[in-house]
Amino acid sequence: MGIIGFLKNKGSKGSKVKEIMADVSAKQLPRHVAIIMDGNGRWAQKRRLPRIAGHRQGVEALREIIKITSELDIRYLTLYAFSTENWRRPRDEVNALMSLLVEYLQKEVDELDRNGVRINMLGDIEGLPDEVSAEILSAVNKTKHNDKLQVNIALNYGSRAEILNAVKSIVRDAVEGTIDINNMDDTLFARYLYTREIPDPDLLIRTSGEFRLSNFLLYQMAYTELIFTDKDIYWPDFDRYTYLKTIQEYQNRRRRYGGIDAGEGET
Ligand code: FPP
Repeated sequence: MGIIGFLKNKGSKGSKVKEIMADVSAKQLPRHVAIIMDGNGRWAQKRRLPRIAGHRQGVEALREIIKITSELDIRYLTLYAFSTENWRRPRDEVNALMSLLVEYLQKEVDELDRNGVRINMLGDIEGLPDEVSAEILSAVNKTKHNDKLQVNIALNYGSRAEILNAVKSIVRDAVEGTIDINNMDDTLFARYLYTREIPDPDLLIRTSGEFRLSNFLLYQMAYTELIFTDKDIYWPDFDRYTYLKTIQEYQNRRRRYGGIDAGEGET
């Protein structure tokens, strides 16, 4: 299998879920899964529904994915909820997405908290409407002591802006003398990113058959395994079965980080 996996929607699901769950749980799991939840609009369009109905259904899918991630003891889940480029969408859709996020946090934070989920935000919080940033800060604060699963919501997030901001802060610190630029390495650099203290994603999933990273975690995903689903699996269709199949595909990959497998190269 090459660097890019392609997950097709086939096979009967129901009876296989238990079997796949057992298989997946017995093998090495990713520590950090990142997801580009793409295709909500197309899911709705296919049903002649307004786009926001797709986003609403997307939240339902998300609920289930958080649950399974926790059941599998995966430690970090990062979700691309709204990019710095998403402001270009029609104002109604942007407003509806922001309201959906607030509604989700208001409704779910207590249960997430009870289940040991820690909410964290990646992105420029100052560029968000006050009601949204207040709700996020409250959820982050309420769940900050949890350690079963950390859910990072990338919101008003753009990877290039994140990297540029890191560079600006590093230059500032170097000029002020709080860091020595000669000691700068990738570990120190990573501390200037939104993802400080979060390990790099092991697996990236993007639904709906688009093969792009769309300005998401570009620095952090240098060695991440990429899996793109078939184009008829929109985010609201991404269910337990499909998630488990994706993890199964990840477990069949051989991660080499630029090196070679043990045993390879021996003559
Ligand atoms: C991409 O589908 C999806 C988004 C831009 C938003 C994702 C948001 C949610 C699932 C809901 C809110 C999030 C949280 C964390 C509660 P698209 O609109 O680009 O679909 P299309 O490509 O078919 O148009």
